[in-house]
Amino acid sequence: MWIAKDVASLREYRAKAHGRVALVPTMGALHDGHVSLIKRAHEIGHTVIVSLFVNPTQFAPHEDLEKYPRPFEADVKKCLDAGVDGLFAPTVDAMYPPEVVGCDVNVPELAQVLEGASRPTHFAGVCRVVAKLFNMVKPHAACFGMKDYQQLTILRAMVEDLAFDIQIEACPTIREDDGLAMSSRNVYLEGDQRQHALGLSKALKEAVQMVHTGESDPAIIQQVMKQVMQAHHVAVDYAVIRHAHTLRELDNIDISLSGSIVALVAGKVGNVRLIDNMVIKATP
Ligand code: PAJ
Repeated sequence: MWIAKDVASLREYRAKAHGRVALVPTMGALHDGHVSLIKRAHEIGHTVIVSLFVNPTQFAPHEDLEKYPRPFEADVKKCLDAGVDGLFAPTVDAMYPPEVVGCDVNVPELAQVLEGASRPTHFAGVCRVVAKLFNMVKPHAACFGMKDYQQLTILRAMVEDLAFDIQIEACPTIREDDGLAMSSRNVYLEGDQRQHALGLSKALKEAVQMVHTGESDPAIIQQVMKQVMQAHHVAVDYAVIRHAHTLRELDNIDISLSGSIVALVAGKVGNVRLIDNMVIKATP
């Protein structure tokens, strides 16, 4: 497995890569969720490249950029074990050379709601870094987790509008046995907080069940999701039902008409902000 820490060496390795190249963009602190993306990348590509970069432009000044876990050696080992062909782990200066004048990349219509309401600059940072990674790595396909549903939706829109010739592969959320969605931020959960964090997935399961037993009023479902989270001591940021493709609000749930909807939750357990979602389809 090669490791490139700057763009010039990445391009040298990339020029020699054979067949279809599949990219898995990550911020490291790899867990089984990331590994599932790597597995999918092997299925859809001949060469698998993982990028590992804690991207400063997607963190607001008060967020956990400094504290974000960076277990580089363990990440390298996980990539080796998963049969990754190349790892792109650039420095901040390699990714954002100080002498280069920066560019905005954004999908404003989708980036200001939900996560964007409390993190207004977050998705512009994600779009910018992913656009740069696409231009540097030049993959044929890229794998993203449904765990970050809004991110996936926004990146799909970016790829479509800017005409990147890249297949975007959506991969299902990997969970712990008790339902907690795997996240690099779960390592911050201490003591009882690990149990409290289950409030998110339990709220989503409740929403799925309510839709499948015929509840059609989003407001009622949202209220129940909120209650489940609060009962688990989660400080609710949002608990909503949205259209699965546009993320727009729904007046009424008619799943046979809309095809699919998505329930999305976000909240804080202590100081740890967690998100989760479940797509709800017409057939359970
Ligand atoms: P990161 O949080 O490291 O996630 C990298 C990829 O792993 C994302 O596509 C994310 O959705 C996916 N992922 C995380 N947890 C998952 C889980 N439990 N199951 C399945 N997939 C999961 O998302 C980012 O990094 C960054 O914003 C990035 C896209 C790399 C841009 O900096």
